[in-house]
Amino acid sequence: MEILILSDPEAVARRCADIVEAQMKTMPNSVLGLATGSSPIGLYEELIRRHSEYGLSFKDVTTFNLDEYIGIPADHSQSYRTFMNETFFKKVDIDPARTFVPDGMADNPLNVGPAYEEKIQAEGGIDLQVLGIGSDGHIGFNEPTSSLRSRTRVKTLTKQTLVDNSRFFAPDEFQPKLAITMGIATILEARRILLIATGEGKAEAVRDTVEGPLSAFVPASALQLHERATVVIDEAAASQLKLKDYYQFVGDLQDDLVKKHRPSDWISR
Ligand code: GLP
Repeated sequence: MEILILSDPEAVARRCADIVEAQMKTMPNSVLGLATGSSPIGLYEELIRRHSEYGLSFKDVTTFNLDEYIGIPADHSQSYRTFMNETFFKKVDIDPARTFVPDGMADNPLNVGPAYEEKIQAEGGIDLQVLGIGSDGHIGFNEPTSSLRSRTRVKTLTKQTLVDNSRFFAPDEFQPKLAITMGIATILEARRILLIATGEGKAEAVRDTVEGPLSAFVPASALQLHERATVVIDEAAASQLKLKDYYQFVGDLQDDLVKKHRPSDWISR
């Protein structure tokens, strides 16, 4: 795993945007896997800024979102479809018809997963998957003990996740307890993975993901199996890492190497 520790959430957002921009420059018709939650908001804002500032274009991009609540319509204020439309899609030149989010209102939610998997395959697979992380180590809505070989399917949310996400719902509002999420195997098939975490509240989950044993109990630890997973975190989220100094040392050395050779995906930061 590549661990990039940056000073603050703004620096994390810029670095993640560099990685996404480099991917799109190499492959303008990239298939991006996208995430909701507060963690990727800075990345989306930075991409929107680059879109308006110098025309970074998303017109040939296809996107697949990780997950969606079951039981609230796509146009509900708290649906992940609404989150993506409002936070990102409406603010760039992406073709709305090429943005996919699992259907949380399907007559039979059990059929949604296999169809979503087929669609991802039909589009050639995900080139770059963006992830946040739950405080319990979940990715997408793959809660602790999710099978490491899981595919897109229905999941029941943990009490912890329901409490974490209750801030988005009014006290008397229906808060879904079920969701459809890409599985861990689905996520691991992405050619490149970018996990974003900021703040002290994520420090334990980050430590268990990067330095803990590979375990279904910490779903994000499955990224240890991926060839090209980059974890981009701020100082606060890195605060519990035992080998923090080492990751910084590696980063500094790589920076020197990268600056010297400037491969096509190098962008100044
Ligand atoms: C939700 C989403 C995850 C996200 C997590 C963390 O549970 N399904 O994809 O990573 O929240 O959210 P936040 O980034 O707001 O902490």
